[in-house]
Amino acid sequence: MKTSAFFEALPALFTPDVQSGDPVDGSWKGLASQVAGYTAVNELAVLNEAARHLPEGEAYLEVGTFKGRSICAAVRGNAGKKFVVMENFMEFGMAGEMAREELMTNLAEHASDADVELLEGDCFKLMVEPGALDRPVGVYFYDGEHTLLSHYLALAVVEPLLANEALVLIDDASWPVVQKAHKLFLQRHKGWEIVETWDAAHADDPRWANGLHALTFRRVPGTARKLSGTDEALRRYQVTVQDRVNAVMWKAVGIVPGPITAVAKVLLGRSRKIGDDDSAK
Ligand SMILES: C[S@@+](CC[C@H](N)C(=O)[O-])C[C@H]1O[C@@H](n2cnc3c(N)ncnc32)[C@H](O)[C@@H]1O
Repeated sequence: MKTSAFFEALPALFTPDVQSGDPVDGSWKGLASQVAGYTAVNELAVLNEAARHLPEGEAYLEVGTFKGRSICAAVRGNAGKKFVVMENFMEFGMAGEMAREELMTNLAEHASDADVELLEGDCFKLMVEPGALDRPVGVYFYDGEHTLLSHYLALAVVEPLLANEALVLIDDASWPVVQKAHKLFLQRHKGWEIVETWDAAHADDPRWANGLHALTFRRVPGTARKLSGTDEALRRYQVTVQDRVNAVMWKAVGIVPGPITAVAKVLLGRSRKIGDDDSAK
């Protein structure tokens, strides 16, 4: 993926500018009103442009699809490209069957001409499965779980799958927890750069939700396409211990709306404040 062409194309898509303006194409607002979700209009325009620059022979990978708002935006006008989405239908106390059905309905309505493959399960397991993707990932959008470890792993686990030059878009990146994870990761891994930080003015900003950061990855020649020993140990912890804790907590949120939800909100709310804002997704 030629990431420079993507960044150069963006200013023309917003008026008066990318950070503080609105998309020139008003249809993203319409999509956001038709498909339930968490991504905001400027993010939808950016994701769509990213997919537009995806070259033949590379894939667009999304983690955290929920009911499909972000992927429905990415695929629009991008028929003929390969999209892979990973979703474990766990967050928000989602009744898996219902959320899956809604996702499928939205894909049928808004992405029928697109090649979208749903891989259901934990992204930190799926991404290391041999042959999970049949081609390198040119564009990666991460909107999955938002803890320090998961955001670190979101970059570590995808790195071997990335094309030699790739665009990496991370949602909710205005949260301190995400920025801390990026700092830790970039200190330990070569070839990465944070190029744009479209931060939210406040929680659930109608333009940028909780912020979107754009990173680039350029593989340093000779670097192994595999996780380091430390990163693999962290991944194993995530998929064996942390994953179970999350499952229990999200189940409780779904079943018992009262006090447990409040506790979960406190736990999840750590490091999620944007500026002086007190709310969290
Ligand atoms: C904020 S939502 C995604 C919103 C969506 N991108 C949109 O545009 O509305 C986060 C999603 O990530 C999923 N998720 C969280 N952790 C995951 C994991 N480890 N593997 C796969 N999906 C995960 C959750 O089930 C949830 O549906």
